[in-house]
Amino acid sequence: MNRRDFLKFSGEGMLLLGGMSMINACIGVKREDLPRSNDEKTSIKGLEKDEMEILYLASLAPSGHNTQPWTVKVVEPKHWIIGSDMKRWLPAVDLENRELLLSIGAFIENLVLAAGTFGYSTDIQIIAKNRTDTEIADIRLKKDKVQDFPLEKIKERRRVRNNFLDLEIKADDIKYITKHDTRSCLIPTVSPHSFYFPNNSPQGKYFREGTIEANRTQAFRDPAQEELANWIRWSNKEAKKYRNGLTAESMEITGIAGLYVRNFYNRQSVLKKGFREQTVDIVAKQVKTCGGWLLVTSSDSNIPTLIEYGRVFENMLLRIRERMIAIHPMSQMLEEEPWKKQVPKELGLPGEVQWILRMGYLKSYPDPVSLRMPVSWFIQA
Ligand SMILES: Cc1cc2nc3c(=O)[nH]c(=O)nc-3n(C[C@H](O)[C@H](O)[C@H](O)COP(=O)(O)O)c2cc1C
Repeated sequence: MNRRDFLKFSGEGMLLLGGMSMINACIGVKREDLPRSNDEKTSIKGLEKDEMEILYLASLAPSGHNTQPWTVKVVEPKHWIIGSDMKRWLPAVDLENRELLLSIGAFIENLVLAAGTFGYSTDIQIIAKNRTDTEIADIRLKKDKVQDFPLEKIKERRRVRNNFLDLEIKADDIKYITKHDTRSCLIPTVSPHSFYFPNNSPQGKYFREGTIEANRTQAFRDPAQEELANWIRWSNKEAKKYRNGLTAESMEITGIAGLYVRNFYNRQSVLKKGFREQTVDIVAKQVKTCGGWLLVTSSDSNIPTLIEYGRVFENMLLRIRERMIAIHPMSQMLEEEPWKKQVPKELGLPGEVQWILRMGYLKSYPDPVSLRMPVSWFIQA
């Protein structure tokens, strides 16, 4: 927003806001502002307090556009089927449900770690045969010895996109972050391959340029932009109603700009040419400033592999905050043609790329703000 826009809209805005509580209009809804749920006191589908807590912690996992695609069917106590809700798929950018399965994997990783702290080991069977199957994993919790894991790491994890420092990531930090935690490995034969490229390397240039162009393609591809528009909760009212999707806060639009978009933007704003162009400009600025890029490849993209790579991703994310590192998934090159097919070949890497991650050090780490649906909303009969 430029100065002229601001003056124009701030005048109109102040009039429009006249009837509202200024405080409410000024501050965006954050996760901590909403009651976690009303469920704690009453048991849902016979779930015990521990089970509700484990599922809540699982739901703090990341997901594309924060759709929180997971569902949990309670078969019997401590026996669940983890699935996905078709209404929370993203067909325009993730037609093959690859990212959906990665998100479910991240949910399962949190679930396993949280269950361990409550003294349960987790038996996981992947039951989905096709990527469109809505029942994905059969989970049984068994009483076992308590595992020590700081749950704060799950609660504090968040995606950060702005204010990355222009510093290369230290080799020791890369090693620490990509160290695969074999304790929680689903398929022992799957060994993730991570490749780090500094931003000023030829590969870094390839990711910078490719990410800008893939974002341009996606921003001007109507079905993808319409899908994005459907998942942005501009107003506080919508944010509170749905408790999923992207908010101004979670997109790091804060201050006056946040106030403006919360009150004047709507679904149609996202489809305007100016918004699409601005998206590309923001991405161009982001990719210029970072330490480098982490690419994670696998030998195949079978369902168990995708679940495992979602787990590996979440496990990495749970280790970055302590090193003041942010990881920003930039998935557009894996979603748009021609980059989708070209990335591993261009880099001379074998296998299939599951993650393109922009990395950078932060001076200060912001708290999580993205919303979460109460557990009762994703439990199925
Ligand atoms: C499979 C997958 C793909 C994602 N792709 C992107 C992306 O391209 N750009 C982006 O900014 N965030 C991306 N994210 C991050 C999500 O938008 C983010 O996790 C979600 O909004 C919830 O916010 P939180 O991680 O702060 O809880 C992706 C996350 C997942 C799991």
